[in-house]
Amino acid sequence: MSIRKILGVVFIVLPILTQCTQVEQVESLEIIGPYLQSMSDEEVTICWATLEGITQILDGDSVIQNVKQFENHKSIITRLLPNTTYSYDVLKDGTDNGKGTFTTFPGGIEPFHFAVLGDTRTRHDFHQRIVDKIIDEDPLFVVNTGDLVSKGNSMDDWDHFFRINDTLIRNVPYYTVLGNHEQDSENYYNFFSLPGNESYYFFSVGDALFITLDMEGENHSAPEFLEGESRDAFWNNINKKYFEEEKKWLENLLTLNSDAGYIFVFFHPTYYSIKESRVEDAELRREFWGDIFERHNVTAVLNGHDHYYHHAEHGGTHYIVTAGGGAPLYDTDAIQPETVKYKKIEHFMRVDVGLEQATMKAIDINGELIEEIVAERRK
Ligand SMILES: [Fe+2]
Repeated sequence: MSIRKILGVVFIVLPILTQCTQVEQVESLEIIGPYLQSMSDEEVTICWATLEGITQILDGDSVIQNVKQFENHKSIITRLLPNTTYSYDVLKDGTDNGKGTFTTFPGGIEPFHFAVLGDTRTRHDFHQRIVDKIIDEDPLFVVNTGDLVSKGNSMDDWDHFFRINDTLIRNVPYYTVLGNHEQDSENYYNFFSLPGNESYYFFSVGDALFITLDMEGENHSAPEFLEGESRDAFWNNINKKYFEEEKKWLENLLTLNSDAGYIFVFFHPTYYSIKESRVEDAELRREFWGDIFERHNVTAVLNGHDHYYHHAEHGGTHYIVTAGGGAPLYDTDAIQPETVKYKKIEHFMRVDVGLEQATMKAIDINGELIEEIVAERRK
């Protein structure tokens, strides 16, 4: 940024009540949400955010940005009955703006289905079409495999994200995975109220276990003066301790849950990539995490990051890349020996968890079935 630009940027924070007269008119939601988080068979967290103010950025006399600030709210609801539908209203203002419904998770082992999508960060029209298709499937919950938004630090991006998902997530719990585009941003942690440390966590439905991992680590900027090998060494080591602790946590969690009927693991970057420029990264990832998923008989690992559909199989575990939620599609130019099926198309997954087997369907943006994978109950 030039000196002139730096001097030209002025920050003005104005309360909402005066925005109509002193701030250029901004079309905005006054409320984000409400939306559902951290469901169980007896509890749910309802979140929402209210517009608190707008920071106006000027270049000389020209307004170049209006940046919104939201205040985040959450209400933890307890003493609910399993498998029961409730309605709620966080505003009680006589409108539908604060209203939604939710269904608690079942208390025992019974069939249910959930949806998975990923990389919803751009091409909002495609994202909206995928979300509308997921609403039609009426899932118990939804998981996004990461890169929800283009820039985690941009409130504008979150505003778009929540607008697109509004109808879905005020009625269906939405679980998220940290992608590189989330930038490990404070906004992410402010908006979502997830189990555990929120970066990597688990939850269960009946005897199905769901685990999300953080493959991004803590957000750091490499010092400008680092170059070449020194810069590579910085990136290879800065989060080493973080990932080693996460790996120990996962090993322990999988050992403690050896009786699970199904185990689904979600993280953002791929374990098997069919995009030439990312094959080596995936190999390094497999080198670090090793055979942990196969050793613990994980049903399926679901990733994002590479914008296409890909199904690989190794050691009895299905490795699925579901990253067709809106971000521009990638060419598939490095098919792997483990590859079973791939398609360059926008899509989502519907997973039916049954008493004897789980059926994972990849469904494209036109409603056509790409592939159906059947996995047997672990025990
Ligand atoms: Fe990504």
